[in-house]
Amino acid sequence: MQVDLRESWWIRDVEIPSRLVLAPMAGVSVQAFRRQGRRYGAGLVCSEMVSCAGLEHRNERTLGYLRVARDEHPLAIQIFGSQPAVMAEAARMVVAAGADIVDINFGCPVRKVTKTGAGATLLEDPDRACAIVAAVATAAGVPVSVKMRRGLENGSRVCLEIGQRLVDAGAATLTLHPRSARQMYTGEADHSLTAELVELVDVPVIASGDVTSRARAQSVLATTGAAAVMVGRAAQGNPWALSEIVDGDAGEPSRDDVAAELIVFVRETVRELGERRASGFLKKFYGWYLGRGRFPRPFKQELVQLESTEEVVTRLLAASPGAAALVERLEAELPDPADEILLDSMPISIYGGG
Ligand SMILES: Cc1cc2nc3c(=O)[nH]c(=O)nc-3n(C[C@H](O)[C@H](O)[C@H](O)COP(=O)(O)O)c2cc1C
Repeated sequence: MQVDLRESWWIRDVEIPSRLVLAPMAGVSVQAFRRQGRRYGAGLVCSEMVSCAGLEHRNERTLGYLRVARDEHPLAIQIFGSQPAVMAEAARMVVAAGADIVDINFGCPVRKVTKTGAGATLLEDPDRACAIVAAVATAAGVPVSVKMRRGLENGSRVCLEIGQRLVDAGAATLTLHPRSARQMYTGEADHSLTAELVELVDVPVIASGDVTSRARAQSVLATTGAAAVMVGRAAQGNPWALSEIVDGDAGEPSRDDVAAELIVFVRETVRELGERRASGFLKKFYGWYLGRGRFPRPFKQELVQLESTEEVVTRLLAASPGAAALVERLEAELPDPADEILLDSMPISIYGGG
């Protein structure tokens, strides 16, 4: 059975215009990544996980994650934490910042997060997990989604035990990454569990894990009955994977296409994070964009060594002169930065004023 990935679907009253969701990825899902994902066919994009404690304490870097641009919608902002009341306040803040959906992280396997009682550990504490969902759903006023792993231990089926309970507590959709927390990213996502979850709950389910091609997306959708697939690692430095999955556009991008997307990505990220943070942050993206046989390996190494992102852009344009016209076209299509909701224009309560 062929599934039409361009078909829209709904999370309560939020229309999602395609059946591909761009995964939340810490250290990756900056605004440039999310906007690019929307341009290449993602129906829903998601911020990386945002600490509710960081929001509570008005940590400047955490607040920076709440920057939302006009062309990102529909957008989910993901929060993590372990205290229902603090999560509820964080939900209010992310909705004030422009989130269409508040996503709750019950999947993070990283020790720094789990040791605080947040992320995947909440799968072992269903009462607390449900209390968090209920508090967030009441506070948010927009649909709430939950993203989870299969459980903590290998072979765990906890996601199936907890699924409908989370829905009863107020979750409007569930995303399942069917690996255990212990597995981290090893082995394979077992989407037979996704199929079981779809049978058990009466909300749309998003299938996350190892979706790297149109064929795989079609087969996961057809065999699980999920409403959408989520794509993460396959989209790193490779938005073309998204259009291949959604529309079947199988053409490899030209060098000019790759250089142009990277240049726009670099410039937008510098605008978001500032030169100092962006120059370190961007290094991994050079390999992701320029790899896959697109540019010679020494070229990537050369970019990583350059001091400033301006030099990176100059070097890319020298290697791929045809990219300049493409960059101009791409940048002309981006909305005016003045249209963004910046922290300055947020309600005063965001700063803890009231
Ligand atoms: C670098 C990286 C960072 C991630 N950060 C998050 C995160 O902040 N929140 C979350 O729910 N999942 C996070 N994930 C998990 C992904 O959203 C996704 O569920 C997982 O990578 C499986 O999908 P994939 O095979 O398409 O990559 C992260 C994954 C990676 C690789």
